[in-house]
Amino acid sequence: MESIQYTLPQTRISQAWYNVVPDLPRPMAPVLHSGTLKPIGPDDLAPLFPMSLILQEVSQEREIEIPGEVRQIYAQWRPSPLFRARRLEKDLDTPARIYYKYEGVSPAGSHKPNTAVAQAYYNKKEGTKRLSTETDAGQWGSALAMACAFFGLECKVYMVRVSYDQKPYRRALMEAFGASVTPSPSDETESGRAILAQHPDSNGSLGIAISEAVEVAAKDPQTKYSLGSVLNHVLLHQTVIGQEAIEQMALADDDPDVIVGCTGGGSNFAGLAMPYVGRKLKGQSKARIIAVEPSACPSLTKGRFTYDFGDTGHLTPLVKMHTLGSTFVPPGIHAGGLRYHGMAPLVSHTMDLGLIEATSVQQLDAFSAGVQFARAEGIIPAPEACHAIAGAIGEALRAKKEGKRKTILFGLSGHGHFDMQSYISYQAGKLQNYDYPAEEIALALAGLPAVG
Ligand SMILES: Cc1ncc(COP(=O)(O)O)c(C=O)c1O
Repeated sequence: MESIQYTLPQTRISQAWYNVVPDLPRPMAPVLHSGTLKPIGPDDLAPLFPMSLILQEVSQEREIEIPGEVRQIYAQWRPSPLFRARRLEKDLDTPARIYYKYEGVSPAGSHKPNTAVAQAYYNKKEGTKRLSTETDAGQWGSALAMACAFFGLECKVYMVRVSYDQKPYRRALMEAFGASVTPSPSDETESGRAILAQHPDSNGSLGIAISEAVEVAAKDPQTKYSLGSVLNHVLLHQTVIGQEAIEQMALADDDPDVIVGCTGGGSNFAGLAMPYVGRKLKGQSKARIIAVEPSACPSLTKGRFTYDFGDTGHLTPLVKMHTLGSTFVPPGIHAGGLRYHGMAPLVSHTMDLGLIEATSVQQLDAFSAGVQFARAEGIIPAPEACHAIAGAIGEALRAKKEGKRKTILFGLSGHGHFDMQSYISYQAGKLQNYDYPAEEIALALAGLPAVG
């Protein structure tokens, strides 16, 4: 029988997260205070995050030990499986070998619990009572709601309005885990009220929901803020994905020539990619590493690499990243988790260093790839993950055209069981592509903060 699954025993759950930062040839730009434009220190972030996470954010340690309690919870779904997509390969009639690392096996259905559990753990340890956060598609919100339930923390989630309406079962899942969920923009916060005053029918965006969640945490000493992507410590926690994949590819006696992941804020992509970036830097891999983003929100392929706010209400510090402008509200594509105006500074920086590349995919092409994958492999992918599949299929077809036996590894970041309304709309021909929103982006970019 031909191997389909490459599984590792529970004893192979990583002992440490891998921090690529000290291995990079050039350091990342510092995070700046938006008032003074000077680099911020740990104390500036203390109202929002527990100190252990702040220290991870700026860490120069290559390895950061994963606490035993976190590894114990990871053991429920980690190591996650690596599959060889043999039926998809046949379907595409490609000489390429296609592998995917599947994060949909976590209880919340995506890679997000890898960091949610770690963040809830450190917050609990440092006395936090409540976490506030944003979510778009609801994958992150449900992961954090679950992690808060494990550690006895309250959880307040601002869910982007368009997803709140598109994905009611994700909201129900968060509430079943005990979280309180509010559609964003809301009238509960100053940031939300300011948006509603101008746009009463606003679809919302991650940038707006982040402002609401940050505001709540900044105003309440018992509440801290938790982010599901973008920041260094979040990407760090996801590196268990790539570390396992390296071992599993060795089990398959193979090594990827191409690595593909979808990018919203950059966390699942970085989780898979950064351990391979580390290998590239040591001369152990020559893999091309490709980030796939939606054409409707193309921060890496069309954004500017500069300082910007992480949120629309301008409550966060300034970070250097690929950005479409913090006031850009992306069109309501169904891959809610990819609707963020910026890209993780670490992902942006590695692209600037030429270590990774990026491409974009239209909504209908992403769903078409997702359906083709589902029919071949039996897994319904999350709309976000469909973008990675589209990227991987594109590479497999290119290998066919070139007659090359490439090995392709992609990240399947989550299942789409709570996204079936999107599939219903897709099958009914009701989804559309969105042209690159050039005018709106130009407008948002015109409002970038002036940093010398
Ligand atoms: C399944 C899935 N994949 C990808 C993403 C995009 O986020 P990130 O780029 O941080 O992995 C999300 C975000 O919600 C998601 O739910």
